[in-house]
Amino acid sequence: MSAYLPGLEGVPATESNISDIDGEKGILSYRGYPIAELAEKSTFEETSLLLLDGRLPTAHELAVYDEQLRRNRRVKFNIRTLMKALPATGHPMEILQTAVASLGVFYPGNECLSAPDACPDLDYIHNMSVKLIARMPVILCMWEHIRNGYDPIEPRVDLSFSENFLYMLNGKEPDPLYASIMDTCLVLHAEHTINASTFAALVTGSTLASPYGVIAAAIGTLSGPLHGGANEKVIEMLQEIGEPKNAKVWLDKKLKNKEKIWGLGHREYKVKDPRATILQGLFEKLITERGGEISPLFEIALALEAAAEERLGPKGVFPNVDFYSGILYAEMGIPIDQFTSVFAVSRTAGWLAHWREQLADNRIFRPTQVYTGEPIRHYVSLNERG
Ligand code: COA
Repeated sequence: MSAYLPGLEGVPATESNISDIDGEKGILSYRGYPIAELAEKSTFEETSLLLLDGRLPTAHELAVYDEQLRRNRRVKFNIRTLMKALPATGHPMEILQTAVASLGVFYPGNECLSAPDACPDLDYIHNMSVKLIARMPVILCMWEHIRNGYDPIEPRVDLSFSENFLYMLNGKEPDPLYASIMDTCLVLHAEHTINASTFAALVTGSTLASPYGVIAAAIGTLSGPLHGGANEKVIEMLQEIGEPKNAKVWLDKKLKNKEKIWGLGHREYKVKDPRATILQGLFEKLITERGGEISPLFEIALALEAAAEERLGPKGVFPNVDFYSGILYAEMGIPIDQFTSVFAVSRTAGWLAHWREQLADNRIFRPTQVYTGEPIRHYVSLNERG
């Protein structure tokens, strides 16, 4: 019997050619392309197709896919009705999960995945991937308006993915700088090897469940603070610190109490997460281009990073992607409790790429366990128990 490793640390759960992390050098690549190059040169539309298909698309392929995404933005009226029936206090991740799972009711067809000669049915897989990727930001924006007592804003086909996202969220023409920053954020969050939510997607996909079930499972997994939920916690933490000069003392107190510092540390990286470096650069770009009043949270984050480097750097604990993403989203006017949903919008591309890869050579996940319970014993009827 093999040894049990908590958190399955270091245990390969799959073979994959989608993305790779060099945690010592701090390099993340999608399909072999370094994230820094994709962040600078690609778009979310192109990167999501790269993840799904495994290669950079031709101009024609990209145009076709882009058009498919634009034409698939509308969400069924029934989903809107369903969302309106949910309490306005519902966390956006719960709403996203509910809405995505409900969408599946309208798009049956996953039985083709188990037909011996049609598995994997690439048309079905591609069409469902387009529907899901296109609708995720729309659902997020719908909820933002519904929970505030308004009707959702209709999507527009003349805008790019990121432009339409910001347009639907704010109800006004998207700011080009913010749209380009949002696009880079979506590229950065689109994929990250076999993390907890991707693993959940793989496990669900391996049962040949519908892609809506697959993405709903992954959304639920991403929602926890140890995974996607950390960027919300980072903002609360920076607000609690209050001023850059408090960072060191605050950090020492937390570490003394053995508390977690949100946005720091990663199972895979022993250096600073390359995505954190790019996000920090985006914030600096925003300051250079816009000047004026920029969030003091950024200054506090820089002070905390410097203090943490001294204390936690020797353990290989440095800022991860969540450390700077939240401050950037807050600066763009995105409500704090929507941060993880923005992450989910982007990561849907990676989840679906893994789903497709899993189906191409599927075997249901069925790990083993180390039983630590009682040996076989006999049932004692209620009146004989002490
Ligand atoms: N704050 C304080 N100490 C931390 C830390 C953090 N955020 N992350 C790791 N450490 C410390 C641990 O206490 C441990 O110290 P020890 O060896 O003295 O016991 C050491 O660094 C190794 O950490 P460990 O918990 O074993 O790493 P892990 O791989 O199991 O956990 C995370 C990885 C991401 C769950 C963890 O770093 C964490 O909880 N980070 C904060 C949450 C977060 O930002 N999540 C988003 C990830 S993208």
